[in-house]
Amino acid sequence: MAARLIDGKAIAASVRAEVREKAAELAARTGVRPGLTVVLVGDDPASRVYVRNKGKAADEAGFVSRQIDLPADTKEPELLEVVARLNADPSVHGILVQLPLPKHIDAKKVIEAIDPRKDVDGLHPVNAGLLFTGGAGFIPCTPYGILRMLDHEKVELKGKHAVVVGRSNLVGKPAAMLLLSRHATVTICHSRTEDLPSVVRTGDVVVAAVGRGGMIRGSWIKPGAVVIDVGMNRDAAGKLCGDVAFEEARQTAGAITPVPGGVGPMTIAMLLQNTCEAALRALS
Ligand code: GUN
Repeated sequence: MAARLIDGKAIAASVRAEVREKAAELAARTGVRPGLTVVLVGDDPASRVYVRNKGKAADEAGFVSRQIDLPADTKEPELLEVVARLNADPSVHGILVQLPLPKHIDAKKVIEAIDPRKDVDGLHPVNAGLLFTGGAGFIPCTPYGILRMLDHEKVELKGKHAVVVGRSNLVGKPAAMLLLSRHATVTICHSRTEDLPSVVRTGDVVVAAVGRGGMIRGSWIKPGAVVIDVGMNRDAAGKLCGDVAFEEARQTAGAITPVPGGVGPMTIAMLLQNTCEAALRALS
């Protein structure tokens, strides 16, 4: 039997409606609208699309949405200056510096310059540390969205084996921490793991975040497993595809996220959720 499709678009729409309501309530009560500023350095076409979508979603949620475009040759101190200005601006509750940054800029330094209370990406070491130790910081939007989808689908995590393929700070590592916090037994593996297919085959839940189109084959999936595909790749024909060979995997999986329409929309929804939360915390 083919797997159930997990509709990220629909789940994201319900999160966004919830956030819109919370933002309206906050504005009615305090006169403050959540403010999100996205900084884009350079003109990477994919980043430009992502940033535009984030801005549009923030507008629709009733936020004060701003975008700062900087040229590709912006010097690191200039970018740090922009971040410092946003840190000091009380109308800005969330700051997002779109990654990747041009090579001459040290992304780590820029992320560390963001006030952790405005780090709605959850990438600052303070927030990463809070996730590690079980505190209430900001959770990176993609892993947060994954958890939200699993909750929506009522996927049992306690005692289950979750296999996370990929170890980035943006997705793999925080996803593993979140799954662990829900009492899953977690394995983090990656492109250099020996006999990766055998490891993936042990997963009741598989989170694929390696960034290689179709790398995870259907034969690697345990029958009935829940497969979350974070990949956003282009195939030879230029079509958007995930890290999982979808048509194969859906024959074996119990449930699976499509690409597009799976994890992608959730990332933006959780960014709005984090920004609204940052505004609420700033007022309390
Ligand atoms: N580039 C791709 N995804 C993300 C994200 O979630 N946050 C930031 N800042 N940059 C990204």
